Amino acid sequence: MNAANESELDTAEMTSRYLMGNYGRFPVAFSRGEGAWLWDETGKRYLDFGMGIAVCSLGHCHPVIRRALSEQGGKLIHCSNLYRVREQAELARFVVEKVMRRPGRVFFCNSGAEANDALIKLARKFGHDTAGANDGVARHEIVTCVNSFHGRTLGGIAATGQEKVKTGFDPALPGFTHVPFNDCGALRAAVGPRTAAILFEAVQGEGGIHVASPEFFRTADELRREHNLLVMMDEVQCGLGRTGDWCGWETALRGGGVDFAPDAVSWAKGFGGGFPIGAIWAGERPLSGEPDAPRLCEVLGPGTHGSTFGGTPLASAVGLAVLEEIARGELWRNAERLGRDIREAVRGWRHPLVAELRGLGLMVGFVLDESRIAENADFRASGRTPAAHVVTKLMEAGLIAVPAGQRVVRWLPALNVSDDEVGEALAIQRRVLDALAG
Ligand SMILES: Cc1ncc(COP(=O)(O)O)c(C=O)c1O
Repeated sequence: MNAANESELDTAEMTSRYLMGNYGRFPVAFSRGEGAWLWDETGKRYLDFGMGIAVCSLGHCHPVIRRALSEQGGKLIHCSNLYRVREQAELARFVVEKVMRRPGRVFFCNSGAEANDALIKLARKFGHDTAGANDGVARHEIVTCVNSFHGRTLGGIAATGQEKVKTGFDPALPGFTHVPFNDCGALRAAVGPRTAAILFEAVQGEGGIHVASPEFFRTADELRREHNLLVMMDEVQCGLGRTGDWCGWETALRGGGVDFAPDAVSWAKGFGGGFPIGAIWAGERPLSGEPDAPRLCEVLGPGTHGSTFGGTPLASAVGLAVLEEIARGELWRNAERLGRDIREAVRGWRHPLVAELRGLGLMVGFVLDESRIAENADFRASGRTPAAHVVTKLMEAGLIAVPAGQRVVRWLPALNVSDDEVGEALAIQRRVLDALAG
């Protein structure tokens, strides 16, 4: 085939011809975005309440991101971590002082899975370095939750509590135990002499928008003290303002009477507002009672971990611009207020297809009533899951949402979404659900 013919191929054809088939893609290609809006290649406009699965935290192509890209892009794009990187240090300072508000140190990478791999290595190194205080036993096991999602690397799929991500990739990285989310007894029973850490999401995203209970945090905290282990939070999807606070656990614990702070945290997704960046923070917990004992944030010393692209000047400048904009607008307040409005409005519908509403802030899960949707002939003929069918119908009507599992439709709009945009999304969603309910 000659070059002229090649250039005439449409996106669908080129996608199926040249790209690996590892994604189940909806039949649409977007070519432009601005704020809460996306346009596809035919010029059709959509209200985007998926935002690249919680990535575009400031909406599409926000001016502060464009400015950071062009200013830093004209100054210095990449610089190896063999050297000091001013922009990276400034971003780490923001994470420590503004997001965590606790002393600690930060490591930068490029994605959520990489951030969780870094947490896994941190936990193993902690278990190794504290062996002396643990009868010489180097601990390496990590307890995570059923239905969790921690990424697609070998570490990420081992940590993830969903069989579907593991199938075909044996042998799995050893050392992971999964307990039912919010099951305090199971969490307690899963901790043994080789447990180095507990890792969970304050709000499970891919698993269907489940919020961790205050009792679960309290139990994890007790186990930390009883067994000298780490409690680590995966904030990749729920962190950085989305739930109504900088940190998902802060919102999950409001009014719960539990005083909780994690030992280590991972972030990605909304951190760069669309530019790839991930990070972990580790606190200053001493590894032993000795006066000069090393601290947790020091266990990944020189040569223990790294990433060529982690925290480049460009990624760091964009990340800082995003976090500063979230802080400037106190966008977690918008997330909380509009999240509350959405829940109030949808509860008022008493819609037969909505069995339950879950989540915090602008992490909203509409749990579909599977038996009611099964009454719809169009759905039965589609061969899709209930969530994929509703998301497809929403897309046809001009609203982008994201399935979470078989029966949850997820909204993850930008943190700066407006009242009018929320009103419009609610109107579209109600129309589509009404049509499906017949
Ligand atoms: C909670 C959580 N952790 C980790 C990941 C993996 O992130 P990434 O796709 O950037 O590797 C995801 C992605 O959905 C996530 O939701």
